[in-house]
Amino acid sequence: MTDRYAVIGNPIAHSKSPLIHRMFAEQTGQDVSYEAILAPLDGFAATVERLRQEGYKGCNVTVPFKFEAFKLATELGERAQSAQAVNTLKFDGDTILGDNTDGAGLVRDLEHNLKFHLQGKCVLLVGAGGAAYGVALPLLQAGAHLFIANRTPEKADQLAIHLGRLGRTVEIYSIPNEENRKQFDLIIDATSSGLANDLPALHRGIFASGARAYDMMYGKETRFLSFARLEGAKITDGLGMLVEQAAESFHIWRGIRPDTALVIAALRKQ
Ligand code: ATR
Repeated sequence: MTDRYAVIGNPIAHSKSPLIHRMFAEQTGQDVSYEAILAPLDGFAATVERLRQEGYKGCNVTVPFKFEAFKLATELGERAQSAQAVNTLKFDGDTILGDNTDGAGLVRDLEHNLKFHLQGKCVLLVGAGGAAYGVALPLLQAGAHLFIANRTPEKADQLAIHLGRLGRTVEIYSIPNEENRKQFDLIIDATSSGLANDLPALHRGIFASGARAYDMMYGKETRFLSFARLEGAKITDGLGMLVEQAAESFHIWRGIRPDTALVIAALRKQ
């Protein structure tokens, strides 16, 4: 019998996850289905319960339900604990296992696809919202020397304190920073500024020679990426991360790792 999976969000029509997971299933020969489900804003838990009753094996969770999924899970991995959010649920009898594959997806895209090795690199994470929480610990675990900058400095402090409780040290980088300007090997935009066609505050000369800029958004060159390109950095959008986080979910559910390069190439063509 076909094992069923889904992605739950609101809105959800734009989601590329069904296409990605169908490509994974075809490629690996796994007998699975994957659909997009729109849950009412006050109906996430009820939707998950319905899926469990109907025998689904798991689901992905996207905006705005990742924190609710974190609360709903009966077992949480370290990645979900550090992210304070869950994007992957696996149903196993009475257990609802919650994980977060976003950070692993970003690290895999950087290290495996882009051949950017994080060990010992100076990395600036811009943003201190859900997206930044999702990737901070995996970046640290990969050996990055992590700095955090955020428009609202208190939120950057809170993220640093949260990581400190997990035994990890990060530094806060204030922008504008006239006295102690640093250069970074990698700057990751984890803000939602691109949605408003806005640019997070950054100063000229912030990229080290040969540095890379990574925007967690995908599908267009954001103002952050345009700025980075003009500053001489190599630029990447978040499409690879999108596919890699999906592959990590697929691996949690099926125990098999799909070939993501084929899927990334197919999506880039579209
Ligand atoms: P997400 O889940 O996408 O991270 P979020 O939790 O609302 O969404 O966080 C949005 C992040 O983008 C925050 O770090 C926010 O900065 P503030 O903490 O100061 O609000 C950042 N952000 C959003 N719009 C921005 C802009 N125009 N310029 C700079 N940072 C912005």
